Amino acid sequence: MQHLISIRNLDRQKIEQLIELANLIKKEPAQFAEKLDKKIIASLFFEASTRTRLSFEVASLRLGAKVIGFADKTNTSYGGKGESLEDTIRIVGGYADLIVMRHPEMGSVELAAQVVNRPLINAGDGANEHPTQTLLDLMTIKEIRGALDGLKIALWGDLKYGRTARSLALGLANYENVTIYCVHHPGLGFVSKLRQELKRKNLKLELKPNIKQVLKKADIIYATRTQTERFKSEQVGTKKLNILTINKKMLENCNPALKILHPLPRRQELDPEIDKTKHAHYFEQARNGMYIRMALLVDILEKSD
Ligand code: NCD
Repeated sequence: MQHLISIRNLDRQKIEQLIELANLIKKEPAQFAEKLDKKIIASLFFEASTRTRLSFEVASLRLGAKVIGFADKTNTSYGGKGESLEDTIRIVGGYADLIVMRHPEMGSVELAAQVVNRPLINAGDGANEHPTQTLLDLMTIKEIRGALDGLKIALWGDLKYGRTARSLALGLANYENVTIYCVHHPGLGFVSKLRQELKRKNLKLELKPNIKQVLKKADIIYATRTQTERFKSEQVGTKKLNILTINKKMLENCNPALKILHPLPRRQELDPEIDKTKHAHYFEQARNGMYIRMALLVDILEKSD
């Protein structure tokens, strides 16, 4: 069974192959219009989503597949009648050819994978991982720079609860000579277990207290939203985070080739006035999500006949 639970499930060769396929689909979408004709994809979102759910659903539709599922668990037996996650997934596995699943709890997708007889894709499990976001991030960085080796990237914001930054760092560990400037808000750095893993995998991690310090040397700033919904309740309200906003003025003397990425949704970290500058690349990044998800669905389902 070909699940995608963690970005650790994919090696460099596989990642490159998926990016290549996504680029081909982006160039020649018509060629793929009936690739997954007669397939049924289940889209199960137990947690809020705009981009990930819609781009997965559009990806499925553009490949000729049909989509079932839910965007709100309230009206499901899981949400309304106390059915277990395992039973829910087992049942859907009997109906659909592939399941895309997002859930607020860490490890929930891995748990579901143990009971399902169909490929399962992790669309975000709590503060743990978001491997398909990483694929679109890597695709986008490669599109910008031509290569991922030698990258200098600032991961900025909430690195403790932010699954996109966590998965991206793990994905970058497949590449050579990558420097990550960790610019986290107070108390929201990478957990030490992950830091150790990243160092073991030869990533250079440099802690920087302020995003302003990396504007000249970073190729990419990867901004993230503070995941307040994942804070333990006692933290909410008591922790006043003083979050900077990147605005036009701050970008006046930055690396001229700097690109700013963000998995979105954004809050105050990026001023909309920078959207039209040459540095903003987050909307194109979000669009790439559709293509990389098409590539992933083709890759998994073509083999599962
Ligand atoms: C992110 C997520 O859900 O982890 N969004 C996304 O999938 N593009 C980021 C976030 O919610 O802040």
